[in-house]
Amino acid sequence: MNKNDYIDTFNFRGKSYNAAMQSFPGARRLELDAILDRLNMKKAAAFCDAPAGGGYLSEGIYEKFGKDVAITCIEPAIEFGSDIQVIANVINTTIDDIPLPDNSFDGLGSLAGLHHILNRAPIFAEWGRLMRPGGVISVADVQVGSPVGKFLNEYVDRYTPQGHDGYFIARGELSDLLSGIGCENVEEDLVAVPWQFAKREHIGSFCKQLFFLENISAEDVTEAIDDYLGISRNDATGGWQMYWELCYASGQLPR
Ligand SMILES: C[S@@+](CC[C@H](N)C(=O)[O-])C[C@H]1O[C@@H](n2cnc3c(N)ncnc32)[C@H](O)[C@@H]1O
Repeated sequence: MNKNDYIDTFNFRGKSYNAAMQSFPGARRLELDAILDRLNMKKAAAFCDAPAGGGYLSEGIYEKFGKDVAITCIEPAIEFGSDIQVIANVINTTIDDIPLPDNSFDGLGSLAGLHHILNRAPIFAEWGRLMRPGGVISVADVQVGSPVGKFLNEYVDRYTPQGHDGYFIARGELSDLLSGIGCENVEEDLVAVPWQFAKREHIGSFCKQLFFLENISAEDVTEAIDDYLGISRNDATGGWQMYWELCYASGQLPR
């Protein structure tokens, strides 16, 4: 699939993705917290979410830093970005060609978007241009060879109309890309961030809507997720969780 096909895909199923996120707002909380923890910005800051989708990371940034942070959402799929709720400057453009001046941001976060783009070096070069001295970048995405990648490229690929053909991230790649644009204090970890639900059956309902899975019941989706990723009780909350993990990396531009 080329770049434009994927933007069409997210225009097609972005509304369903956003509806799933609104129905189960706490499901991806650990995934969100892990990237927020790696974005140590000052309170008064300019932040860029790229690609933003429906603005999930931006909502977390607003919750953490309050109205003093100026948020810009970069989202190539116009329909997907049209649901962004948080107060933000929304720009519909690709994440490697952002029509903003150099030194625009103190923080940049990228959650679960890089695996749609094969050549990632130009994206990091563009982000490096946009960052101010001392700015922090944090990225998170699916690691190559992981159970999450297998689930997306096999199961989601089979049941979502446009398929799923992710170019997942090799261990060390994100660190190399951050170091390549001059970042210091680069750190990278594979982090378990299971998705959380009150009831076991919510897992299939959420994922069916999030990934726009057709010709399969929510019950069957739950069972497939148990096979691919594993479902367990969360003893602390009394709820249910499906396994999820992402590779998180962060770095800081020199002051
Ligand atoms: C799984 S969504 C993640 C959205 C959001 N960051 C989140 O965590 O909910 C994947 C994102 O990648 C974007 N994307 C897909 N193909 C792209 C491309 N070729 N260039 C830039 N962004 C792309 C989509 O528009 C979408 O925003």
